Amino acid sequence: MLLLLGALATWLPRALAGAPQAEDTAQLDLFTSRPQSRVSPAFLSFTLDANLATDPRFLTFLGSPKLRTLARGLSPAYLRFGGTKSDFLIFDPQKEPTFEERSYWQSQTNQDVCKSWSFPFDVEERLQMEWPFQEQLLLREQYQKKFKNSTYSRSSVDMLYTFANCSGLHLIFGLNALLRTANLQWNSSNAQLLLDYCSSKGYNISWELGNEPNSFRKKAGIFIDGLQLGKDFIQLHKLLGNSPFKNARLYGPDVGQPRGRTVKMLRNFLEVGGGVIDSVTWHHYYLNGRIATKEDFLNPDVLDTFISSVQTTFQVVKETGTHKKVWLGETSSAYGGGAPLLSNTFAAGFMWLDKLGLSARMGIEVVMRQVLFGAGNYHLVDGNFEPLPDYWLSLLFKKLVGTTVLLAKVKGPDRRKLRVYLHCTNTDHPRYKEGDLTLYVLNLHNVTKRLQLPYLFDKQVDKYLIKPSGPDGLLSKSVQLNGQTLKMVDNLTLPVLTEKPLRPGSTLGLPPFSYSFFVIRNAKVAACI
Ligand SMILES: *[C@@H]1O[C@H](CO)[C@@H](O)[C@H](O)[C@H]1NC(C)=O
Ligand SMILES: *[C@@H]1O[C@H](CO)[C@@H](O)[C@H](O)[C@H]1NC(C)=O
Ligand SMILES: *[C@@H]1O[C@H](CO)[C@@H](O)[C@H](O)[C@H]1NC(C)=O
Ligand SMILES: *[C@@H]1O[C@H](CO)[C@@H](O)[C@H](O)[C@H]1NC(C)=O
Ligand SMILES: *[C@@H]1O[C@H](CO)[C@@H](O)[C@H](O)[C@H]1NC(C)=O
Ligand SMILES: *[C@@H]1O[C@H](CO)[C@@H](O)[C@H](O)[C@H]1NC(C)=O
Repeated sequence: MLLLLGALATWLPRALAGAPQAEDTAQLDLFTSRPQSRVSPAFLSFTLDANLATDPRFLTFLGSPKLRTLARGLSPAYLRFGGTKSDFLIFDPQKEPTFEERSYWQSQTNQDVCKSWSFPFDVEERLQMEWPFQEQLLLREQYQKKFKNSTYSRSSVDMLYTFANCSGLHLIFGLNALLRTANLQWNSSNAQLLLDYCSSKGYNISWELGNEPNSFRKKAGIFIDGLQLGKDFIQLHKLLGNSPFKNARLYGPDVGQPRGRTVKMLRNFLEVGGGVIDSVTWHHYYLNGRIATKEDFLNPDVLDTFISSVQTTFQVVKETGTHKKVWLGETSSAYGGGAPLLSNTFAAGFMWLDKLGLSARMGIEVVMRQVLFGAGNYHLVDGNFEPLPDYWLSLLFKKLVGTTVLLAKVKGPDRRKLRVYLHCTNTDHPRYKEGDLTLYVLNLHNVTKRLQLPYLFDKQVDKYLIKPSGPDGLLSKSVQLNGQTLKMVDNLTLPVLTEKPLRPGSTLGLPPFSYSFFVIRNAKVAACI
């Protein structure tokens, strides 16, 4: 009887596949014969905004064992320290650490800086109470585009580096490009001080110079064109070459979205400086955080706007003969700190997952999410060190999605609202092996949709379905994985991400407005071996 049922289970879907489809079921095409592209193992990376150093006392948050545990969960990754404020930060090696920073270092009693951390509870508590006011200040500065210079100390650099190093992240530090001589050339003397300090400590850091130089005029009243910026990068490259950082990587130019004059800036920059950078970086946001709506977050037209931005960037890179990888150096749903009550909810996951999928498919090697932790609403971890929906989504992506990118397509008219991406599975995951496939799917329909695998239908599939948890629906700040609300076990332990094995032959169901990963086991796809 069981045998018969088993046979029926494998025969039935095949029979159904030939029959007319139920309206909610879509056919999938999988193109697995050759990779579309390969991404970095650090493909999903993230940032800290340089504005966190405006008041260095708040950098002590980076000592939080909980925040480090969360960051380590996303390793391997780059940690980019940059943003508008990086062009207003000046290194002062003489500056004394604040009281809070001194408490931080005094609490490091152990030899191993990564192990011991017992930050005085009252200091952390006081800083957490002050943080909402600091956030307001930072966001106001950003909104009014009136930036003040701040200085940072050796202690600030140490905290940042220790955080990255102890969390298994590689630090990318954005140098100040607005320090200029009278004839508008970059004045590298402050960068030299920082390089000297970092090499004295044996730090392994990669570098950037300037953040969104296309809007320097708006932010600082200085116009720097792409040709000058290219020369500045060559100067920095020489500086690195004459230091223990001679093999360090250099990324740039971190321009904003490529349109209008920014395209020209990128082109001119690459013509001059394209030879000295290791990857071309640019930034992307779909929306203005102050006016974005929930409907925008669920709108496939909005998601598709990303495609043309990527195409423009690749075109400029190609036309200038720059044989370098392209990275998204800073990106999120909405600029200006994100959209309140949206960028930090389940709804934000559609933009994040779709951006990861399109980026990988179109050949972007690394995507750096703005931000891991910090002011605004687009953070992965909030001010109480609680992980938000996009954190959990990132963690699942990291664990399940491999670096070889394949192609999946939905047949028929559902395509734009039922968005599918296919990679080889990440074989670091103990449950999976070479040849397995990871499909990830977004359902933007307001009804349940089912996907029918074209072949491989008799394979075992593990489902990882993410839905909002609690009464707030799409605006929830917590999520369920296969019906189980995700939360940390304790400050040092992430939960196990448990799959739900589907019966062989099942269709892949997605409730309205949800996203899911599906791992197709024993698929034995040659491109994944
Ligand atoms: C920041 O400092 C630099 C170097 O001293 C100076 O050129 C620049 O005008 C200052 N910017 C602001 C906003 O004060
Ligand atoms: C952290 O620092 C140690 C010692 O310098 C080094 O061996 C290790 O590779 C570093 N880790 C990262 C992720 O940079
Ligand atoms: C570069 O900046 C430093 C520090 O502000 C200053 O002492 C030096 O004169 C500047 N160099 C040039 C060429 O402007
Ligand atoms: C520095 O870090 C990069 C990226 O993690 C790594 O590839 C490189 O080997 C490291 N360099 C040294 C000298 O440890
Ligand atoms: C679902 O969306 C369609 C349009 O795509 C709309 O006509 C319909 O009213 C919506 N149904 C619900 C329950 O929101
Ligand atoms: C866990 O971390 C939070 C946030 O840093 C802190 O408030 C709490 O006291 C920590 N719990 C334990 C048991 O250490």
